[in-house]
Amino acid sequence: MPELTDLLARELTTARDRTLLLTDHDEPELLRQHSPLMSPLVWDLAHIGQQEDLWLLRAGDTRRAGVLPPAVESLYDAFTHPRAVRARLPLLPPVEARAYCHEVRGRVLDRLGRAGADRDPSSGPAFEVAMVVSHEQQHDETMLQALQLRAGPPLLGAGAPLPAGRPGLTGTTVLVPGGAFILGVDGADEPFSLDNERPAHRVDVPAFRIGRVPVTNAEYADFVADGGYDQPRWWSARGWQHRCDAALTAPRCWGPDGTRTRFGLVEDLPPDEPVQHVTFFEAEAYAAWAGGRLPTEVEWEKAAAWDPVAGHRRRFPWGAADPTAAVANLGGSALRPAPAGAYPAGASAYGVEQLIGDVWEWTSSPFRPWPGFTPMRYADYSAPFFGGDYRVLRGGSWAVGASILRPSFRNWDHPVRRQVFSGIRLAFDVDPGSAGTP
Ligand code: AVJ
Ligand code: FE
Repeated sequence: MPELTDLLARELTTARDRTLLLTDHDEPELLRQHSPLMSPLVWDLAHIGQQEDLWLLRAGDTRRAGVLPPAVESLYDAFTHPRAVRARLPLLPPVEARAYCHEVRGRVLDRLGRAGADRDPSSGPAFEVAMVVSHEQQHDETMLQALQLRAGPPLLGAGAPLPAGRPGLTGTTVLVPGGAFILGVDGADEPFSLDNERPAHRVDVPAFRIGRVPVTNAEYADFVADGGYDQPRWWSARGWQHRCDAALTAPRCWGPDGTRTRFGLVEDLPPDEPVQHVTFFEAEAYAAWAGGRLPTEVEWEKAAAWDPVAGHRRRFPWGAADPTAAVANLGGSALRPAPAGAYPAGASAYGVEQLIGDVWEWTSSPFRPWPGFTPMRYADYSAPFFGGDYRVLRGGSWAVGASILRPSFRNWDHPVRRQVFSGIRLAFDVDPGSAGTP
């Protein structure tokens, strides 16, 4: 399958171009740690190479010799070294980290060229290349989170232009009538889906309403102005405790007098832009104040992927075509979410917009396996996190690599985290008696 080989080689190159762009800074900059929540960029850089070395050159077998001596390689094990301590490790200097990634990549591309056809792209070598591309792209987003927390003059510029929003959508909802749909995907349909997205299975979902667009800064500012952060009644018990312990008063990166800091730039808060950098607890409190709730991840996926007329899933909310700049804000170059209503052509079958890209949307769901879950070869990608203190986020942010995202893609983080490009989409219960009447 030469087309598949070419596609994967292009995907590897796209991810690497992005990694090198995000790490194209001087040595002190790459060694800096911006927050105990984040690694120094030079750790992410070498870890990207280390994972590629492990999964694509050694089939995940750590007993086989890799490009690095074992003692050096072990510095890049995410489970042994928590983020807070990584800056104190004897890490490879940036020049050596780049050379390492380059060496691994050369060997991977040689192999890919020789491997030829891959009979089952959903679990064979092609899948593992796609998995490594996804890993690299996810770390590129992680590096953008670190750069967002960085203090100092701007390093990345203002970002690429985005389409204008459309007024009148903020605060409106659409009805998703009750009924079964197919949750999750199978390798046969989505060969590059990760283990936690599989298998596809039928789930009944009672009727609900869902926000047509994500919650905007202006809407969230109303919650703040209304004393939302001072009224425990909007917050869960844990949420209120965290709001007090962490002294939360507004989303991360919001400044005084209606400003916000974005990659070192101080700007007026754009009213129509989806709010980002909120914890799950803030999202939950906002939803209660607004008279609604957060969607479950199952509701979210139905609203995004189900075509009720055709009775099957769409590959993307808008249909089968791969994402482009006309339907979603992805890939990281904008450095911000697009205003509400910017992508009418990206609407789902139900008319829900901006589900893919812009901001990760907190759901009320803890992270758990779908029935019939089978771990992929990288078995520690999902399984160690099932049942932990995590909430699922859906839809991807502006910082997600376009090729790794699907409506079935699941992200997760602790409910207190907000370094993520995380935002809010509201859901509302529907009286079962009125289901089906919009
Ligand atoms: C899926 C984003 C939660 O960053 O912890 C990167 C992705 N896993 N390397 C994370 C991941 C291993 C993961 N998230
Ligand atoms: Fe990783």
